[in-house]
Amino acid sequence: MNATSTDTQPEHVAIVMDGNGRWAKSKGLPRVAGHRAGVKTLRKLIEYSVKINLNAITVYAFSRENWQRPDSEVDLLMGLFISALNSEVKDLHKNNVKLTFIGDRTAFSSKLQNSINDSETLTSSNDGLCLNIAANYSGRWDIVQAYQTIAKEIQANKISLEDVNETMVSKKLSLADHKDPDLFIRTGGEQRISNYLLWQTAYSELYFTDTLWPDFDANQFDIAIDWFSKRQRRFGKTPEQVEQTQNS
Ligand code: IPE
Ligand code: IPE
Ligand code: MG
Repeated sequence: MNATSTDTQPEHVAIVMDGNGRWAKSKGLPRVAGHRAGVKTLRKLIEYSVKINLNAITVYAFSRENWQRPDSEVDLLMGLFISALNSEVKDLHKNNVKLTFIGDRTAFSSKLQNSINDSETLTSSNDGLCLNIAANYSGRWDIVQAYQTIAKEIQANKISLEDVNETMVSKKLSLADHKDPDLFIRTGGEQRISNYLLWQTAYSELYFTDTLWPDFDANQFDIAIDWFSKRQRRFGKTPEQVEQTQNS
């Protein structure tokens, strides 16, 4: 074992599934064909994550900023979410996957909200892979809703100002029950966070690949995980300090 690297698999992986539109364009297809192909990729990645015993994956399916896309694309995406959820949920349940959505679901149609709620209820007792889907999510929205919750609790005298610290803020954010993502993957060539898990990725290892999301597969996931296992996570310490802890 390389004493300077983690040499371990990540427990929680956050993924920005980007590049569906460009994938479709490169094949002369409409953008929605890229989104459909993207759903297939996600399905395979979930199966693979179950196989390799990952604890959790959190995928960015729709950002709050994505509402700015043409209505036709947004409508097609919403339709795709409903059909994908309804067709996949049984299999996910069979595979012991626990499904959770993060983001403001109240903006969705009641049909989609029902599918979301039903899928969460069905899989709530599962203790295998946690699949978190970020839909109408943004990192800043998440932080603002945490501020609001905390402010309300202070106003109601449930907590005092002195109770507010990093641990308590983390508990008010999405993914409060999860360890922060160890590994952040973004496909599609852009090297940006695009308002994803801003607080939670404070110490994630960031992996960017040019591969467009529909072309991302288990082999490429392995490459990312292998890259992760070679990182030395220092959390502010010196390399020597980290090596000492690993060797003790
Ligand atoms: C990501 O792929 C999927 C969503 C944002 C819903 P894009 O649709 O952003 O694909 P590109 O970046 O245009 O290729
Ligand atoms: C981020 O991708 C959101 C999702 C993958 C759902 P975008 O394609 O929307 O990001 P930008 O606009 O290029 O930053
Ligand atoms: Mg994009």
